[in-house]
Amino acid sequence: MPRLLELLQDEIMALDAKSLRRRRQIAETACAPEQSLTLAGATAQRTMLGFSSNDYLGLAAHPALAAALAEGAARYGTGSGGSHLILGHSRAHAELEERLADWMGPHIPEAQSLFFCTGYMANLAVLSALGGAEAVIFSESLNHASLIDGARLAKARVERYPHCDVAALDAQLGACDAPVKLIVSDAVFSMDGNIAPVAELLALAERHDAWLVLDDAHGFGVLGATGRGVLQAMGLRSERLVLIGTLGKAAGVSGAFVAAHRTVVDYLVQRARPYIFTTAAPPAIAHALLASLALIEGEEGKVRRAHLQARIGQLRRGLEAILPPDGSAWLPDSPTAIQPLIVGDNARAMQTMAQLDAHGLRVGAIRPPTVPAGTARLRITLSASHSEADVARLLDALGDALEAPWKKAA
Ligand SMILES: Cc1ncc(COP(=O)(O)O)c(C=O)c1O
Repeated sequence: MPRLLELLQDEIMALDAKSLRRRRQIAETACAPEQSLTLAGATAQRTMLGFSSNDYLGLAAHPALAAALAEGAARYGTGSGGSHLILGHSRAHAELEERLADWMGPHIPEAQSLFFCTGYMANLAVLSALGGAEAVIFSESLNHASLIDGARLAKARVERYPHCDVAALDAQLGACDAPVKLIVSDAVFSMDGNIAPVAELLALAERHDAWLVLDDAHGFGVLGATGRGVLQAMGLRSERLVLIGTLGKAAGVSGAFVAAHRTVVDYLVQRARPYIFTTAAPPAIAHALLASLALIEGEEGKVRRAHLQARIGQLRRGLEAILPPDGSAWLPDSPTAIQPLIVGDNARAMQTMAQLDAHGLRVGAIRPPTVPAGTARLRITLSASHSEADVARLLDALGDALEAPWKKAA
């Protein structure tokens, strides 16, 4: 066997032995709480009740968005035909960018926005373009992988700061005399669900002549009175903000945007390689996203956000009542749709996931390196399309699964 294949196989086997091997399932039907799946290694489909999507508002299979996508395809075809700077930038892309700039206008003076194929690419673009050799990137220690990779791609020096530790960051900024300082943070932490101290981070940016790059992947659509995200929820405004929002999660479609002062956006168009050297997303996607924004900011969005909040409250109250008394599983403070149940050990996370599986429930088990060693967890995510009965069913099954180990130990 060629040496490379041997090495790869050894590594995969080592992952398997540590319960870290990843496997995929195949979704046979649209994203919804009840979904037909072909699980890894199986041949038959099963209908499962899922708590692992990022479809927080339940829009991913909304008929109005499917119709808008079809209408967009009828108008613009399926492919954009090129990169944004050559000929792929359609009227639909331009309109979407204008809408998003209007949305962010109250929070970022002279805001413009730029549409990307994915949030991963938007983060690579922002950090690699703005983080030049003269810059220092101050990176929150629980940042999403795409921000970490963006910082790796940047020429800037990178300093990590401890999770949500505003005092430590203040000291690090105070000791830095670089001409460009970028504070970079998830707004809602993707594996923990807690919200960054955004107002304090922005105050530090103002005080230290720095910029705040915020990734609102999990807040956009969900937080704020009309779903504009964390800046709306906290009533913040500053020209020092660079906001990234993703459009494949609560918005139910695909893609991402960056909103910032028009000079920053213009600079990204000139210099951001993940924007320049790739084919523009299909215009139909942008067309569907315009319909999604209308839903998010309208009455339907409001009703969906309220329903989601009710399910979050129901889940948290229910979990608090069934957590094992020995502290072997715990629920961190999270006000958002992301509710991690931390069980610590990788094998226990996999075992609990398997127990839920036996009840026809699907919850993701998240293990290192996605989360720090010793904090393997079930990452429960809720959606506005979950019913009260769905959440009650999860709580029942979790009650059984959590009870087993500490009963056995007693
Ligand atoms: C915080 C955060 N940023 C960025 C991304 C990447 O977004 P996308 O899935 O659009 O590439 C994700 C999600 O996967 C995320 O959780």
